[in-house]
Amino acid sequence: MSPNIQEISKTKDSFSLKELNVMLKKKNKSIPTKFLYDDLGSKLFEKISNTKEYYLTRTEEDILNKYSTKIINESDAHELLELGSGSSKKTKLLILEALKVKKNLSYVSFDISEKALKMSYNQLKNISSDLNIKLIKGDFINDLEKLEQINKPRLYLFLGSTLGNFNNDTAIKFLSKISKKMKKADFFLLGIDKIKNKEIIKAAYNDTAGITEKFNKNILNVINKEYNLNFNPEKFDHIAEFNEDKSQIEMYLQALSHQKINSKQENIEINLGEKILTEISRKFSDTSIQSIFKDSGLEIVKNFSDVKKYYSLYLLKSI
Ligand SMILES: C[S@@+](CC[C@H](N)C(=O)[O-])C[C@H]1O[C@@H](n2cnc3c(N)ncnc32)[C@H](O)[C@@H]1O
Repeated sequence: MSPNIQEISKTKDSFSLKELNVMLKKKNKSIPTKFLYDDLGSKLFEKISNTKEYYLTRTEEDILNKYSTKIINESDAHELLELGSGSSKKTKLLILEALKVKKNLSYVSFDISEKALKMSYNQLKNISSDLNIKLIKGDFINDLEKLEQINKPRLYLFLGSTLGNFNNDTAIKFLSKISKKMKKADFFLLGIDKIKNKEIIKAAYNDTAGITEKFNKNILNVINKEYNLNFNPEKFDHIAEFNEDKSQIEMYLQALSHQKINSKQENIEINLGEKILTEISRKFSDTSIQSIFKDSGLEIVKNFSDVKKYYSLYLLKSI
């Protein structure tokens, strides 16, 4: 039986072909990162998570293995609400811990990708009859206001360094919305990738098996399907480079030839060597992330990290 998915918005409704055309006609071209995640994109992201180079998932999982009991005891939540949940594989550690102390625990998995929601459901459906699973398909940038309030304590989760995909303004707007939604008894657990040796960072986005390359190129298949375009992914190279000034990985698709893309509106031209930005992944210092928390109305309750200080899980409260 397929799981019940509540759909609170359609991607296409919140982003028009006109807006995409504007982004692709600019000198600095880009495609919104959310289009990386269709069914195939979600499966490829899972595979990336398991590559030897992608230390992020492994490290976050290690921290959760070590500190889940502390996090659950501190938050005392009746509901775990995860934004951009992906497969919820790591979240299972927290849920199992919460089930030790709570009967009738709720877990809300919120993601733009139906495939991710189904993976999440399959991950969790058999773990306990005390767990109530709710799946919501929506956009965490546009639809946060649509999430219903509950009376009992809630633990918000935003894992996998997904905040790193937002520029500073978007990060502050997004976190401020969550902070405003949080009640006194609510907590927020946020996973952040930290600044480290840039070769280690770069390798994570350039795995030798070429899975990140497939994941990146697939964004063109997704927009082809959504907006009836005719990009050929094979006419692009995968580039993931570290921008030291901004302390972020920038993932691009670089044109291997001059190309004309047909669209129902204006046609798009891409010159040989031109790059289209598909994702940023920011790496934070303690100071840079603390300044974002301050501007978003959040305060740190605890910072859980690994021995190498590669990654941090911040437990936060609304001020
Ligand atoms: C970097 S992955 C992290 C997945 C998971 N949290 C983890 O830690 O492995 C980002 C997740 O956010 C989802 N996502 C991306 N953009 C989104 C958006 N605008 N609204 C909702 N979900 C989104 C993707 O489908 C994907 O599951």
